[in-house]
Amino acid sequence: MYELTDLFQSEREKLFKRFSNRFEKAYNFNRQVVSFQANKEEPVSRWFKYKEGFSSALVKYFLTEYYNEPGRLLDPFAGVGTTLFAGQSLGWETHGIELLPVGIFVVEAREALQKINPIEFQKSIEKLWIELKKIKETKTHFNHLSITQDAFPDETEIALNKFLTYISTVKNEKIQTVLRFTAFSILEELSYTRKDGQYLRWDYRSKRDLNGKPFNKGKIIPFDQALKHKLSQIVSDMSPQNDSLFNYSNSNKFVPKDIKLIKGTCLEELPHMNDDFFDFIITSPPYCNRYDYTRTYALELAYLGCDNEKVKELRQELLSCTVENKEKLDYLYQLYTDLGRGTTFANVLNVYNSSAAMNEVNSVLDELNKLNKLNNNNIPRMVRNYFLELCFVVFEMARVLKKGGYCVMVNDNVRYGGEEIPVDLILSEFAENFGFDVKKIFVLPRGKGNSSQQMGNFGRTEIRKCVYLWQKK
Ligand SMILES: C[S@@+](CC[C@H](N)C(=O)[O-])C[C@H]1O[C@@H](n2cnc3c(N)ncnc32)[C@H](O)[C@@H]1O
Repeated sequence: MYELTDLFQSEREKLFKRFSNRFEKAYNFNRQVVSFQANKEEPVSRWFKYKEGFSSALVKYFLTEYYNEPGRLLDPFAGVGTTLFAGQSLGWETHGIELLPVGIFVVEAREALQKINPIEFQKSIEKLWIELKKIKETKTHFNHLSITQDAFPDETEIALNKFLTYISTVKNEKIQTVLRFTAFSILEELSYTRKDGQYLRWDYRSKRDLNGKPFNKGKIIPFDQALKHKLSQIVSDMSPQNDSLFNYSNSNKFVPKDIKLIKGTCLEELPHMNDDFFDFIITSPPYCNRYDYTRTYALELAYLGCDNEKVKELRQELLSCTVENKEKLDYLYQLYTDLGRGTTFANVLNVYNSSAAMNEVNSVLDELNKLNKLNNNNIPRMVRNYFLELCFVVFEMARVLKKGGYCVMVNDNVRYGGEEIPVDLILSEFAENFGFDVKKIFVLPRGKGNSSQQMGNFGRTEIRKCVYLWQKK
């Protein structure tokens, strides 16, 4: 007697066997390097915690290991710009696409900082503390979203609004941006909330009516204390001895090239880019794990002026990775037709539809849904659309890369209803169809206690965390 799931293993199994000689245990980069953790101690990168990011060490490793000299680098899911700044520091011309105002603002603030005179900045901080004391009125600059209402203690909200009143009078725009960024990067610690993947968790002390288990996030830091701490971090990272910033007091060997960041969705922006333009792509799309950036970063989005409507719109534009995302097939059809590239649309769709492993995953999830084995009915739709959209992205990445150019992608496999979804294998199969040679699938070592070095030991049901290396043929 076999299980229902056994019937559906075979296509994934075949793909696993086909790519098994490309798997390699990733000794050079551990989990810290692939996640944002390694940035926590790094000057500049540590200012704003973007949990979904990877480390600049990872980017620098690939750029130096696989390329002799700086060229053009792209990250179509740029986040807070880890790829862009790491590439820039090595002399690369860097291009990014990012949809969420959160990442875009961090990149802008970091660029502003590169162009600020540290002495002038220091003076503006001294002035800030004096001027803040003089502000009496409490105009509201922070307009809450419904999901952020009552996120701060009252006195913090007042102090935050006074701070925003003051910085709107700062004449030097770059200094104003950096000051605005300083408060932006402490919002979570000031608040009753904690980012938790799919949503925000709320502390029991907030005014919110909370159902469920009470949550205590620990100390909630007063505004002035948190601001002082962040400013001192920034000032110390701006010191001339520090290589991480290219401010003009720094004596670098080359003049860094300005970062080119496009604000928008890469599904729409990539098709507008030229063929054979980039030498390297290093990227990490959202994972297929239901994490909703528009909820976890709701405080930051509200701070940046997004209202409820805008947030809903952004949620739909993100690469499908939450159960709320609707299908974008009609939109993609229209996009490619308007560009006169209807054939491309048909070809990409054909690659998606011809993937036996993809079809197997889709039907097994539909089956599990019918049996009520998934904890949300929209999981099959999310998974189907996640891969469909990434199929277009992989096609475009192959098109815009020069021959011989590399694409590095960081992504995790996932499991739903007990079923493994081999994201690494399915995306690598798409990549092959679009002219990539799948060079390596680096698998991150698992936690302590597993010293297995044999690739054969990567069981087919292991939830692999991987870095893929594809080269355009
Ligand atoms: C895993 S994060 C990348 C983090 C980045 N590697 C870093 O170190 O900051 C994925 C990013 O993709 C962005 N994103 C999601 N859908 C997008 C889309 N359709 N177009 C462009 N960016 C998108 C998200 O806002 C998020 O910042």
